[in-house]
Amino acid sequence: MPEEKKLIKVTIDNITIEVEPGTSILNAARMIGGDVAPPAMCYYTKLKGSGGKCRTCLVEVSKGSTADPRPMPKLVASCRTNVMDGMEVKNITSPKVIDARNGVVEFLLLNHPLDCPICDQAGECDLQNLSYDHGKEGTRYQFARRTFEKHSLGPYIQLHMTRCILCYRCVFTADQLTNERRHGILDRGDHSEIATYIEKSLDNDFIGNIIDVCPVGALTDRTYRFKNRVWFLNPVDAHRDCPKCKGKVTLWYRGDEVYRVTARKDQWGEVMDWICNECRFEKKQTSDWTIEGPTKIDRHSVISQGHYVGVQKPTETLPEVMGRQPRLLMDIHSVSEVNKPKIHLSELPGPAHSDDFK
Ligand code: SF4
Ligand code: FES
Repeated sequence: MPEEKKLIKVTIDNITIEVEPGTSILNAARMIGGDVAPPAMCYYTKLKGSGGKCRTCLVEVSKGSTADPRPMPKLVASCRTNVMDGMEVKNITSPKVIDARNGVVEFLLLNHPLDCPICDQAGECDLQNLSYDHGKEGTRYQFARRTFEKHSLGPYIQLHMTRCILCYRCVFTADQLTNERRHGILDRGDHSEIATYIEKSLDNDFIGNIIDVCPVGALTDRTYRFKNRVWFLNPVDAHRDCPKCKGKVTLWYRGDEVYRVTARKDQWGEVMDWICNECRFEKKQTSDWTIEGPTKIDRHSVISQGHYVGVQKPTETLPEVMGRQPRLLMDIHSVSEVNKPKIHLSELPGPAHSDDFK
């Protein structure tokens, strides 16, 4: 009989769970779900060696373990730090983490163009979502942004290097999934860029998957780009008998027309099964596929607009994190002694002043 693994306890944002030893803090937080799971721009479960590049997943470890309860001196990357027995972690409950994440987003946006209105990734872009949660309206950056020539990486993929955040996901995908990697990150520091060696095109059979793993709009599908906005399309799960891959995909319809084909993604936006180029780029007729039904989408996603079949409600963790139900409607007089109940702000002539509360 296989020996049962001893589980260890970890508390993240006041919620305690038991996980297997060797689990990263990020994956432990994903088991809890909802807002407790830190955002991740470079970590990708299916890609070996990914993570540790973008720093969006930083968390505070306020207690190292039962054996050594000292807090960790700095914020740590949750995708690269494993849990210890008795560890206590703060994500959304730590002002330090929120502050650091705001800073990381500011860094990621230093060179990133704000071209969401014309970017094909808009509506399903991790950086766009992150900017809504942690971005500022302005920038403190005073230098010229990096600009690059546009590259077509082979017949199917367009690279917009200005949008790349150098997360390495596409490099790992090409390395681990295709039979020959022909692109990588060239140069160092501010000059780093994704490029093919001497302009070689990427035509490996599974190379289309780099479009799906790219968290931003740096790699786009040339058979789909500029044809539609993602929130006008209806995603439908479908499969076909494919000799190269599992053939399980999402078809993106507008009316009767299939605009694009992508791999299916899980709740963390990660590909469930890699698909081949033929399924992705060459099978755009409904007759090529067996339709399974509408894709399940997160209710918070912009893609759910106007498409309410199969919409999933995300896990609600806030009451557990706070230890009480959030007070959505609050009577200000019951929580503040400054405001006198007999004074009605709407009845004051002009703006309220401290004299009104004497
Ligand atoms: S092109 Fe996309 S996937 Fe590749 S490193 Fe840049 S952001 Fe990451
Ligand atoms: S997801 Fe952890 S550092 Fe990028």
